[in-house]
Amino acid sequence: MALPYSSLYSTQEKGYWYIIHDNSMNVTDIWSKQGYSEIDLVITSPPYWSQLDRTEMRQKERKNKGLDTKYSDLDRLDLANIKDYNLFLETQKNIFTQIHGLMKPKGYLVVITNNVFTEGKLFPLAYDTATSISDTDWILKDEKIWLQDDKRLLALGVNNAWVGNRCHQYCLIFRKE
Ligand SMILES: C[S@@+](CC[C@H](N)C(=O)[O-])C[C@H]1O[C@@H](n2cnc3c(N)ncnc32)[C@H](O)[C@@H]1O
Repeated sequence: MALPYSSLYSTQEKGYWYIIHDNSMNVTDIWSKQGYSEIDLVITSPPYWSQLDRTEMRQKERKNKGLDTKYSDLDRLDLANIKDYNLFLETQKNIFTQIHGLMKPKGYLVVITNNVFTEGKLFPLAYDTATSISDTDWILKDEKIWLQDDKRLLALGVNNAWVGNRCHQYCLIFRKE
């Protein structure tokens, strides 16, 4: 789908933006089939592992707002349906390795993600994402915290151990150097 972006930005420059509904695991093929040029900037928020499925409270919240409680039923194609934590990290890393090959030198990648509390402990998904992508050719340059100060603070008792809800997310900033 091609839409003129002049209505979105106050610019006289001519250009278009496209929405491609496809599997990011095939991004290299998609890019070459479309004949797109090298990329300056990627901003993305991949699924936070299978968090959506794991948190009862999140499910309830989303149901109340009339939102989907599952991105899809597609096994493995949908990153959110990869239950194994290490396999998720590996699959995510492979996608960002592909993206690296499509970028302009000095191009930036911003990954929005978060840590995930499940099975009675915190899985450091944001930190493991930073570490695993840093294992590739991407250079981790910076992090920004996305503060969600419109969220209510909740003290949750999990097996009598205090656990707070998260009111921030991480924006991990990488550069192709
Ligand atoms: C955390 S949501 C972010 C959605 C959107 N970027 C936003 O900020 O509102 C993650 C999205 O990744 C999509 N997704 C999961 N696996 C994917 C894949 N293999 N290729 C492309 N998108 C995928 C899900 O369908 C979901 O829409």
